[in-house]
Amino acid sequence: MKAIKNIAVLTSGGDAPGMNAGIRAVVRTGIYNDLNVFGIRRGYDGLVKGEIVPMDAKSVANIIQRGGTMLKTARSEEFKTYEGRKQAYENIQKLGIDALIVIGGDGTFTGASKFIEEFDIPIIGMPGTIDNDLAGTDFTIGYDTAINTVVDAVDKIRDTAESHDRVFVIEVMGRDSGLIALRSGISTGAEAVLIPELNVDYDAIMKRLDKSRKNKSSRIIIVAEGDKEGGEVVADKIKENFPHYDVRLSILGHIQRGGRPSCMDRVLASRLGVASVEGLLQGRRGEMAGLICGQVQFTPFNKAIKHIDKINENLTRIVEILSL
Ligand code: F6P
Repeated sequence: MKAIKNIAVLTSGGDAPGMNAGIRAVVRTGIYNDLNVFGIRRGYDGLVKGEIVPMDAKSVANIIQRGGTMLKTARSEEFKTYEGRKQAYENIQKLGIDALIVIGGDGTFTGASKFIEEFDIPIIGMPGTIDNDLAGTDFTIGYDTAINTVVDAVDKIRDTAESHDRVFVIEVMGRDSGLIALRSGISTGAEAVLIPELNVDYDAIMKRLDKSRKNKSSRIIIVAEGDKEGGEVVADKIKENFPHYDVRLSILGHIQRGGRPSCMDRVLASRLGVASVEGLLQGRRGEMAGLICGQVQFTPFNKAIKHIDKINENLTRIVEILSL
């Protein structure tokens, strides 16, 4: 196995709070181990276009507390083509880069797997997405900050909902995943949570709303963006079934992706950044570093991208029991 001397890090897909802490950890752990570290700007797009810059300890100073990603990110169409990946390979060859650390979600790891298959590049992944939709880690970098942003917003909406005796349908992010909806639903006392992973029985939800305590001042229904109907349709259905309810829809949108990372996300990103570089040096490839029950564990990319087991149906039951 070729010794690793030069590594590069990139962030890809949707940004997530804590990515900066992850970049900082990779750069400094690399330097600590006498490696040369490069930063790739704009994810795989920058890899294809050769936007690769040397990093030093100072270049990642004062970023641990910042949201977003200082390396910028993108969803690259070019990298999905063989020609794009070949160009990317030539760019890293030119600089003598031996290995990559990629921070992102399922799209990032799918791209990384293809790249390894075709060009035999050592790659380790770090889970960076607000959606938490990756297996092999209890939480992804950015999820904790995002759910706290959602909780803060829903608490505020609850105030106005109570004052006006209104029903609010609140759509939260999660293109393929209900994990933001589920956890924020429990912690805000939502009356119902709709997520894409579970088949929604709308009749049951309508019955529940109907049966719920008549003296409730407000009702909150949290809908994951990836739910097959989406917030708008759910709000319309509630209006149709309960014309006497005053229903409003609120789509929280990209506010959920920004902001200062929480302590949890900073520590998670720092731990996984160190583990990723150390894993590469120990000969690991094609795996994602994650944290399971407080311990670092590595999971092959093809297993990490399947998150369905993370849906704990007991949590949906808790929403129902506690919404009396
Ligand atoms: O990063 C994940 C995510 O926030 C999803 O929850 C959401 O569906 C998607 O990104 C939105 O992506 P974009 O910002 O490209 O519209």
